[in-house]
Amino acid sequence: MTPPAIERILFTEEQVDARIREVAAEISARYEGRDLKLVAVLKGAVFFLCALARALTVPVKIDFLAISSFGGHSGQVRIAKDLDHPIEDEDVLLIEDIVDTGLTTRYLLQSLAGRSPRSLGVCTLLDRSVRRIAQVPVDFRCFEIPDRFVIGCGLDYKQLYRNLGYIAVLNPDKNREV
Ligand code: PRP
Repeated sequence: MTPPAIERILFTEEQVDARIREVAAEISARYEGRDLKLVAVLKGAVFFLCALARALTVPVKIDFLAISSFGGHSGQVRIAKDLDHPIEDEDVLLIEDIVDTGLTTRYLLQSLAGRSPRSLGVCTLLDRSVRRIAQVPVDFRCFEIPDRFVIGCGLDYKQLYRNLGYIAVLNPDKNREV
């Protein structure tokens, strides 16, 4: 049953799975013959990371970062949990569930670039580029989305709904504070 918090489904589970396989094929072709380190940002990117990694044909390592925000909506973030291992001389792909203002991605790219990876790219499940403040390079994206609050496939509303297999727009009538 569809939860009442949902206004409409943007992408079904089948569409999400198919698109992730397409992007995984692009990534596999781009990094053919190399090992790839996937760096995922907790928590939202975990579901996308797993689906993407399963569909890649190049050898993959994974590591995780967690960030916390401060300074209200100014986009200031700090690393709350750092990577377990160095990334020096590795091909690194930053995995995000969504790039929105781009401020998080910009900060993380700066931090990761300072660790001398062989290459550094960005792959996101969702791109809400209409909200962009910081122009960041997005090398791989599964879906462009409208300026609406979305849930599912790792994206939450008050920590709920991350486990939905589809991407949906939250019903603003049921959640007026959104
Ligand atoms: C989301 C997402 C990105 C960030 C993107 O994380 O995972 O890290 O916001 O937003 P930006 O482009 O405006 O910086 P969120 O803070 O929702 O944490 P979560 O993944 O734990 O839900």
